[in-house]
Amino acid sequence: MQRSPMSTRNAELAQWVEEVARLTRPDRIQWCDGSEAEDERLIDQMLDSGELIRLNEKTHPGCYLHRSDPADVARVEHLTFVCTEQEADAGPNNHWMAPGDAREKMLGLFEGCMEGRTLYVVPYCMGPVASPLSRCGVEITDSPYVVVNMRRMTRMGKAALERIERGDSFVKGLHSTGELDPERRFIMHFPESLEIMSYGSGYGGNALLGKKCHALRIASYQARTEGWLAEHMLIVGIENPQGETHYVAAAFPSACGKTNLAMLIPPESHQGWKIWTVGDDIAWLHPGKDGRLWAINPEAGYFGVVPGTSPKTNPNAYEMITRDTIFTNVAVTEDNQPWWEGKKDGQPAHDWQGRPWNPDSGKAAAHPNSRFTVSATQNPSQSPEAEAPAGVPISAIMFGGRRRDLAPLVFEARDWNHGVLVGAGMASETTAAATGAQGVVRRDPMAMKPFCGYNFADYFSHWLNVGAKLDKPPRIFHVNWFRQDAEDNFIWPGFGENLRVLRWVLDRCHGNASAVETPIGFLPTLDAIDQEGLSMKDGAMEELLSVDEALWQSEMTGIGDFFDQFGERIPEALMEEFRRVVEALGND
Ligand code: GDP
Ligand code: PGA
Ligand code: MN
Ligand code: MN
Repeated sequence: MQRSPMSTRNAELAQWVEEVARLTRPDRIQWCDGSEAEDERLIDQMLDSGELIRLNEKTHPGCYLHRSDPADVARVEHLTFVCTEQEADAGPNNHWMAPGDAREKMLGLFEGCMEGRTLYVVPYCMGPVASPLSRCGVEITDSPYVVVNMRRMTRMGKAALERIERGDSFVKGLHSTGELDPERRFIMHFPESLEIMSYGSGYGGNALLGKKCHALRIASYQARTEGWLAEHMLIVGIENPQGETHYVAAAFPSACGKTNLAMLIPPESHQGWKIWTVGDDIAWLHPGKDGRLWAINPEAGYFGVVPGTSPKTNPNAYEMITRDTIFTNVAVTEDNQPWWEGKKDGQPAHDWQGRPWNPDSGKAAAHPNSRFTVSATQNPSQSPEAEAPAGVPISAIMFGGRRRDLAPLVFEARDWNHGVLVGAGMASETTAAATGAQGVVRRDPMAMKPFCGYNFADYFSHWLNVGAKLDKPPRIFHVNWFRQDAEDNFIWPGFGENLRVLRWVLDRCHGNASAVETPIGFLPTLDAIDQEGLSMKDGAMEELLSVDEALWQSEMTGIGDFFDQFGERIPEALMEEFRRVVEALGND
C-alpha cells in the first residue's frame, strides 16, 4: 500500500486510520493538506476519469460539472439513522438502530470497499480555526469529489490537523461511495461516541460529513450537553443607512430561501442599506457572558440550490458562481456553459444526465436539486465578521417555511417561550432537497426534522433552558415568503424585497414598529411594512397579514397531535404556551 508523506502525531487518529485501512483495503492512503496544488491534482485526475467535466473556460473560468448517479441526487432521510444506546434518546423524530447492530451492518458494507481506490484522510475544522467555539473532525473517504467539496465547504487540511494535534477532540467520519446502490446505502450517526458512518452515496448532505452529519446531527447532541445550540440557520447582518449593523439568524427548511436571504441585495428603493452574509445554512449559537446569544457559521462555503438563481432573484449568487465553482447536476448549453431552470439566459443542449435536451419532454433540464459548491470568500456580500472567533450577536431569530396559505408574511412571538412554540410547531411543504414526495406539508420543527441528533422533546426543553439563561434573548419571529393566490402565483415578491420584512423585525427589536396583537402573536399593522416602490395587487398586504382563525385552529390540532407522540417528555412550559394559543383562538 502506498502512503503520502503527511501523517500525524496524534496516536488516536493514526490508529483509527490504520484500522479503517485494514478494513477497507485501499491501494493508497493520501493525507490531505488542503493546499491549492493538491486541489489542482485532484481536479485533473477527475477530469481524466470523467468524474468532472470542464465548463466553458471563457465564461466560467475554474468551473466544473459533476454528474452524479441519477439515483443519488438528494439526502435520503429514510436511510439516515441516529444510533444512541437508548432508542428513546433518538426520539420518534429519528430512525434508530442499536449502535452495535449499526456498527456491524456498516463494517460489513465497508469491508474491502476501497480495493483499487485511494483512501483520503481529510482533517477539517468547523468554524474559524482560531475560535474556541469551533470543532474539528476527520473524514475518511474514497471520493476525490468529496475532498474537493470539503476544501470549499470547510477549513480543511493542515491547520485543522494542527488543532487536532494540539489536543482537540474530533468527530470520526467514515465515508465510501460504495456501489451507489440505494439498497446498500446508510448514513449512521453515533452521537455518544462522536462517529459517523456513511456508505453508498456521493450526494452532498450524505457524503460531505462536516455539514449535516457533523455540524447539525452530532453537534446538536453535543450542544445540548454543553449548553449551546446547533441550528439549521442562516446568519445575516443588516446595515442601515446610519452604518449600524444588526444580525438575524433564520431557520427555514432545505430549499426554502436561506441562501437567498443570506445574500440578499437591497431593492432600488433602499439606497444606503447593505446586507452582510455570515452563513447560509448552519449556525452554532452560544449564550455570551453579556447575556446575548452569539453565532458562528461552522462552514466556509456554500452548497447552494442552483435552479431559480438569476440576475434578478439573486445577483450576488449569480455573479459568484461564474468562476471557481463546482456544479452538480445542472444542464449545459451548446457551448458548455452551465444552465438551469430560471437562469433567464441561454438554452440547454444537454440535460443534467448528459442526454440531448428535448424541449418537448416537459421535464426539467437541470435537476431541481442541482447544486453549486463555492467558497464563501467569493461572495461579494461576505461579512467582515465571518471569521470573528466570538461570532456575531443575534438580535432576532426567524423561523419560516413554505406555506401556500395559513402562515402570514410575518408575525412576532410574545416572548422566548412562545417563540419556542412557534418554532416547534413549524411546518413546510417538502422540496427536492430530500428524496420522496414533494410539496407535501409536514411538521418540521425549527427546520431541524432531518437534522436533530436527539429526541425533539429534549430539544424543545433545551431551547427553553437556553432562553432562560439569556438576559437579552433575541426576539423570535415567523415568516412566510411563499403565500400563493388561486392561480398559484406567489403573492409576495420575495427575494430583495424581503429586506422590508427584516426592517420591521429589527424595528420591533428596537421598540419602534407598530403591531397588532392576535391569538398567534404580533402582526404588523397594515402600514407598518414600508411599501414604497413595491408593486403588489390591491389587497395583497391585507391578505398577507390576515389570520384565518378557523385554519389556525385546525393547525393547532395538528401541532397537538404531533406533540402527542413525544408523550410525557414534552416540556410542560411548551404545553402551557400551546394551551394559551388554543384558548385565545377559541375565545376570539
Ligand atoms: P435554501 O436551500 O434554504 O438555502 O434555499 P435557497 O435560498 O437556495 O432557495 C431555494 C429556492 O427557493 C430557490 O429556487 C429560490 O429561487 C427560491 N426562493 C428563495 N427565496 C425566495 C423568495 O423570497 N420568494 C420565492 N418565491 N422564492 C424564493
Ligand atoms: P439547503 O442545504 O438547506 O441549502 O437546501 C442542503 C440541505 O439541507 O440538504
Ligand atoms: Mn440545509
Ligand atoms: Mn442553501
